[in-house]
Amino acid sequence: MSTKFATNSSSIVESLSQIGRLVSLLKILLICMVILYSCFVLYSVNQPKQTEADSLSVSRTEKNPLQSKVTDSPTNISHLIFAILGSEGAWHHRKGYGEAWWRPNVTRGFLYLDAAPNGDLLPWSSASPPYRVSENLDKLIKKITPAVPRIIRLVHTIVEVFREADKKGFRWLVIGDDDTVFFVDNLVDVLSKYDHTNYYYIGCQSDYVKSNFWFSFNMGFGGAGIALSYPLAKALAKDMDACIRRYAHMNTFDIITMFCISDIGVNLSPHKGLHQVDMNGDISGYLSAHLKTPLLSLHHFDEVQPIFPGMDRAAAIQHLMKAADVDQSRLLQQTICYHRKHRWSISISWGYSVNVYERIIPRSWLQIAIETFQTWVAPNKDPPHFMFNTRFAENDPCETPHVFFFESIQMMPGNVILTSYYRARPRELPPCFASLPADYLSHVHVYSPATKRTKMNRCECCDISYAEGAKNAVVKFRECMPDEILA
Ligand SMILES: *[C@@H]1O[C@H](CO)[C@@H](O)[C@H](O)[C@H]1NC(C)=O
Ligand SMILES: *[C@@H]1O[C@H](CO)[C@@H](O)[C@H](O)[C@H]1NC(C)=O
Repeated sequence: MSTKFATNSSSIVESLSQIGRLVSLLKILLICMVILYSCFVLYSVNQPKQTEADSLSVSRTEKNPLQSKVTDSPTNISHLIFAILGSEGAWHHRKGYGEAWWRPNVTRGFLYLDAAPNGDLLPWSSASPPYRVSENLDKLIKKITPAVPRIIRLVHTIVEVFREADKKGFRWLVIGDDDTVFFVDNLVDVLSKYDHTNYYYIGCQSDYVKSNFWFSFNMGFGGAGIALSYPLAKALAKDMDACIRRYAHMNTFDIITMFCISDIGVNLSPHKGLHQVDMNGDISGYLSAHLKTPLLSLHHFDEVQPIFPGMDRAAAIQHLMKAADVDQSRLLQQTICYHRKHRWSISISWGYSVNVYERIIPRSWLQIAIETFQTWVAPNKDPPHFMFNTRFAENDPCETPHVFFFESIQMMPGNVILTSYYRARPRELPPCFASLPADYLSHVHVYSPATKRTKMNRCECCDISYAEGAKNAVVKFRECMPDEILA
């Protein structure tokens, strides 16, 4: 018994120690699992979340399987349907703006008028977009008593264009005003990076802070132009009657459109380069320091001064289009370079202007727009006014540039484009200290490659040649050296 006990007790001790070993083994196993699990958790936390931007960048690669299921062909100009919101009264003088960018038989879409065209609009110009007279909505308007009855016609255009447009190859509905100028090649390039089979509402905020505050920071301003992918345009057209009823109390086309799109579950994809131009006066400072993003639209030509001096508004836009027709990828792109010996800085806004400074000024400063323009709403002294920074450059020989404007463009041998810029007026200031005066300069000739610029994230560099006392300076664009500091 005792032996048995002893045996038993020894076997108990043995099994106890076995259990002990098992427990410590289990402990080790548990610790391992905990470590492994924490590693896994840490790893997953450190992985960037799949954001909309990621899925966008996926859809931007040309071989995106999602996109190729629907179609293999890249988006081109024929896939855009334009709806231009106009009126008979305004088209008489806005025709020049529209015809500057419209390409007959190439761009698709319609100009929507409130009444049949009359007088000097007949016969209808073949250089204008084909027109449609908007549907009579008197009955609906009587029933819903909207805040601004004429706005209902504009919103309803979305149904009308959707109903009429050939659905074949319809990928994007682009809506703008009759005083919006689109840069169609750039627009095609930008839209082709989005998956048109998805829901997209692409637009831009106003340049004027308070416009965004008054309307919405999440609204694509109509005059800057908005682009709706086909599925979104379709959904919006389908919901239109209910949408108009819901938001009849609102007072602009673009705010009603934004609200209705939000109700479909889609929000703005902001895209810079569309310009509402909520400002007044001389916008040359704004156009001379464009962001490094393709120029997509300009607006409000009735409000701002002609963009080139000595021309009427329409002629000035048509003049800009001479450069746009040759190379939209460089249009208004800012390139800055220096002449160290003369102590000059030159800032070129391709196809628009050249500013020559009699001082070496870092690019970081030259990229800030000179506030040549006025605020959108006049009696409003307190900043902030604009959604971008500005600087002042008046009557200071070291800060005020000599200003030159685009004159002509020509193709040159060797796959090079020559744009020339003429002096608008004498600067009428003494020279900046220790610099060569630039007062003799009457023209700046700029040579740029005749190839589309695709690398927008970094500017091009350039070199200046100028012989003292000469009338012409020559600037040649080139790629920047790997670590070239641009100041
Ligand atoms: C645009 O792409 C379509 C294919 O989707 C093609 O049939 C058409 O010829 C292209 N048009 C232009 C102007 O490149
Ligand atoms: C556009 O096409 C129509 C018919 O196809 C033609 O009569 C007209 O001349 C064309 N217009 C231009 C500006 O090419």
